[in-house]
Amino acid sequence: MKPSLLVHRIGRLYTLDPDAPDLGEAPNMSVAFEDGELSWIGPSAHAPSAEQVIDGSGLIGLPGLVDPHTHAVWAGSRSDEFARRLAGESYSAILEGGGGILSTVRATREASREALAADARARVAGLRSHGLTTVEIKSGYGLDPATEARMLAVAGDLSDTVRVVRTFLGAHAIPAEFRGDREAYVEQILTEQLPLCAPLADCIDVYCDRGSFTLDESLRILEAGKALGLTLRAHAEQVEYTGIAAAAAELGATSVDHLERIDHEGIAAMATHDTVAVLLPGAQLYLKDASPPVETLREAGVRMAIGTDLNPGSSPVHNPWTIATLACILQGLTIDEAILGMTRNAGLALGRPDLGWLGPGSVADLALFAPPPGEPDTVASLVQHMGAHRAVHLVMDGQLRIEDGRSLSV
Ligand code: NIG
Ligand code: FE
Repeated sequence: MKPSLLVHRIGRLYTLDPDAPDLGEAPNMSVAFEDGELSWIGPSAHAPSAEQVIDGSGLIGLPGLVDPHTHAVWAGSRSDEFARRLAGESYSAILEGGGGILSTVRATREASREALAADARARVAGLRSHGLTTVEIKSGYGLDPATEARMLAVAGDLSDTVRVVRTFLGAHAIPAEFRGDREAYVEQILTEQLPLCAPLADCIDVYCDRGSFTLDESLRILEAGKALGLTLRAHAEQVEYTGIAAAAAELGATSVDHLERIDHEGIAAMATHDTVAVLLPGAQLYLKDASPPVETLREAGVRMAIGTDLNPGSSPVHNPWTIATLACILQGLTIDEAILGMTRNAGLALGRPDLGWLGPGSVADLALFAPPPGEPDTVASLVQHMGAHRAVHLVMDGQLRIEDGRSLSV
């Protein structure tokens, strides 16, 4: 049978195939799709004929991008807090005063499923326009059983736009009504939220930090999630060192995220257990924070991924290409590390080795970008020119989803 779609004569393709050297880069390549799968990949001269042919000449081809860390479902605005932080108030002090995450919780609890979905859909469509085909989305602004479940249901509804990986984050903050009795809130997560939310989620995450959950509480929650078959993740060592990165790695977490304050013990445990470091330079920039120790992570052989951390407070960043450039400038990643971090390693952070590369056994997602005017068709051009890139064409599960910059309905 003829392939349904051929993306032909791609100026320069980066397959990110784990078996290929470097980024699997080659000029003048074609990729064919059939029945939702990648059916052929090779030099354009040998390409099969297909029912529909898209011209990729002059374009840069990459696997569909993967964002491994977002909080893309929320209601309300925190632009007032942005002004307060610019005037010198700290993120932690605002949270301790009932703002920050807790202010988004109040607005999200009041929002209907439809209102949450409308805003989240627009955000995810924006992410997709930059070439993302997989977006991880966390709950964590409900902090009660019904709202946590509503957030995950909304995230699931967006899977007609991108591939959504859903993460339950009931342990994001202690809600105001449990301030005097945090143990009762942990109990609610374990006995009410988890049973309701686990069937709606792929992963479980905890925010273990000053003002949020202790190491002991975080581990109880992760262990309960593990028993229900969820993939483990953690917001780790961001504001204060807690030891969660090492403990979560030992428990089998696929990623630990943030890591501004990780130490050698944590890094050694991540290397031993092949836990991915998800770096979030948007939060680092907005909180004017220190950089995670990228050189030590690299020397220890820890895989690094990068994410937008898209959220209404610490990282209102809607563009993975902005994040790639910031990861290089602020955190010291190389261009190749940034590209790996927004593709294959981001897939591994989600426990999905089929995401973020192109070849036999990968998902059938391909993103094509034009180099900035006057620039060569290389990823170095894309990363140097911050955030200017939208997908010219985008294929997800073998279907053309963006053509000539225009979104196609499915
Ligand atoms: O990843 N650090 C904790 N959680 C989020 C912040 C969410 C928010 O500020 O609303 C983060 O940065
Ligand atoms: Fe986060």
